[in-house]
Amino acid sequence: MRIVEKIADLKTIIKAQKREEKTIGFVPTMGYLHDGHLSLVETSLRHNDFTVISIFVNPTQFGPNEDFDRYPRDMEGDLKKAESAGVDVVFIPAKEEIYPDGYMTYVDVEKMTDTLCGESRPGHFRGVTTIVNKLFNIVEPDRAYFGQKDAQQALVIKKMVQDLNLNIEIVTCPIVREEDGLAMSSRNAYLSAEERKSATILYKSLLEAKEMIEKGERNTEKIVGYIKNQIESKTNAKIDYVKAVKADTLEDINILEGEILIALAAKFGQTRLIDNIILSCDD
Ligand code: PAJ
Repeated sequence: MRIVEKIADLKTIIKAQKREEKTIGFVPTMGYLHDGHLSLVETSLRHNDFTVISIFVNPTQFGPNEDFDRYPRDMEGDLKKAESAGVDVVFIPAKEEIYPDGYMTYVDVEKMTDTLCGESRPGHFRGVTTIVNKLFNIVEPDRAYFGQKDAQQALVIKKMVQDLNLNIEIVTCPIVREEDGLAMSSRNAYLSAEERKSATILYKSLLEAKEMIEKGERNTEKIVGYIKNQIESKTNAKIDYVKAVKADTLEDINILEGEILIALAAKFGQTRLIDNIILSCDD
């Protein structure tokens, strides 16, 4: 496995692979790797001849009062995990390599970023689409892999790729969960033992909502209300949002029909967690 810090060095490696007509898979991450990240890597390894992952805690996607400075980092552990997974190249650029002095250009997907996480984290997706677009230009992958865990992120990236005519296939991979259902996340490391325990309510309430829908409930307000009530009555978490929206466009819906996404975000202490489920509501 090669560890690369400079854009120019990575471009040289990529060029050599392309010359040999190798397909390139790319998994962008912010590190502190867990089995969720590694599932994307495994899928890329299966689909492509050559797999690149990036580890870069991207400052432009964090708000001023968010956790950029304390975001968990473990480069040594990450490199070991990447190596044993079979990654070909790990790209770990310095901040100055990506955003040199005088940097001025941003990519913004409109509308779809006004809801869910975009509503509570203004500017977040502008940072995500900017870094992902830059990384796409550096790595020039055939395919790039994103987790369903960040459902809105995956859709926003797909929209960017479509709107900017990028020749990259975006592959969305299923959510990897802990044994008790909690979606794996680098941020789970922040949770106290008590918070960790109560965080299981998120997936549990999503599964209960799924059951209600399978039994015929189609009223969005009732489903959303039920989930909110479960979280509020059983934990000290502060709900950021619980929403049921169209799974492809993220538009609001009053009556549940077709493919829907139920997505939520809640704060356990200082730690903001997200989770979601996709359901088919056709009779
Ligand atoms: P990060 O949170 O490190 O996640 C990197 C990728 O791993 C994302 O596509 C995310 O959806 C996926 N992932 C995280 N937890 C997962 C889980 N439990 N199951 C499946 N996939 C999971 O998302 C980012 O970084 C950044 O926004 C990034 C795209 C790298 C841009 O900076």
